[in-house]
Amino acid sequence: MLTLTDIAGDPLVPTSRLRLRDGVKAALRPLVHADAERLAGFLDGLSPESRRLSTFDGYDLAAARALCDAIARYDKLRLVLEDESSGRIVGLFELSLALTAGDIARYRAAGIHLTERTDCRFGPTLADAYQGSGVGSLVLPIVMEAVRRLGRARVILWGGVLADNARALRFYQKNGFQLVGPFIGPGGTSSLDMILSLT
Ligand SMILES: CC(C)(COP(=O)(O)OP(=O)(O)OC[C@H]1O[C@@H](n2cnc3c(N)ncnc32)[C@H](O)[C@@H]1OP(=O)(O)O)[C@@H](O)C(=O)NCCC(=O)NCCS
Repeated sequence: MLTLTDIAGDPLVPTSRLRLRDGVKAALRPLVHADAERLAGFLDGLSPESRRLSTFDGYDLAAARALCDAIARYDKLRLVLEDESSGRIVGLFELSLALTAGDIARYRAAGIHLTERTDCRFGPTLADAYQGSGVGSLVLPIVMEAVRRLGRARVILWGGVLADNARALRFYQKNGFQLVGPFIGPGGTSSLDMILSLT
């Protein structure tokens, strides 16, 4: 079984090469410390609407550095999608191997018993120009393969999905996520829990 320490020790694991629309070559690989400036470019470029749909602690170099500093220190695995023609980061796919007490309680109320042995959290964000053209669906199976290799069998949405995020809802549904139920997220946002079983 793969561990976060293995990945930090050899960031080429797990790396996948893929072709986006128009044949653009891209690589999906773990975030590395040297990515801070490029990651800041990705965060800074997110539109206000993307920031509403997918929230980060910040969108500048300090925020990017904080994400890079977290590599191999906590429970997170962050995979970046790099457009190999420009060298730009055009997507960030986040996994957390830890669950929150709130997640566990909400899912339990819906009859689903989450455990850190079996389950993990997932949150995807593409650069605005890469949204809505199938890139997410191209990348998702590769991320899920990494989840399997990390020994987890189910994936829940990190912080849920905003109920008005129609594109993300369609994206999750068409990729096999099941609706678990509504909840009120931070700031009173109307959100939905969803889960994907990989077995
Ligand atoms: C969510 C996200 C990762 C999905 O990746 P993507 O590449 O855009 O998704 P795909 O193109 O593979 O699939 C989107 C689906 O939604 C459909 N869609 C697009 N806009 C839509 C809309 N306004 N309403 C309903 N469906 C919509 C697409 O037609 C497609 O479905 P189809 O293949 O059946 O036609 C990406 O859009 C993104 O980063 N969004 C901004 C951040 C975000 O919302 N993150 C998720 C937070 S929970």
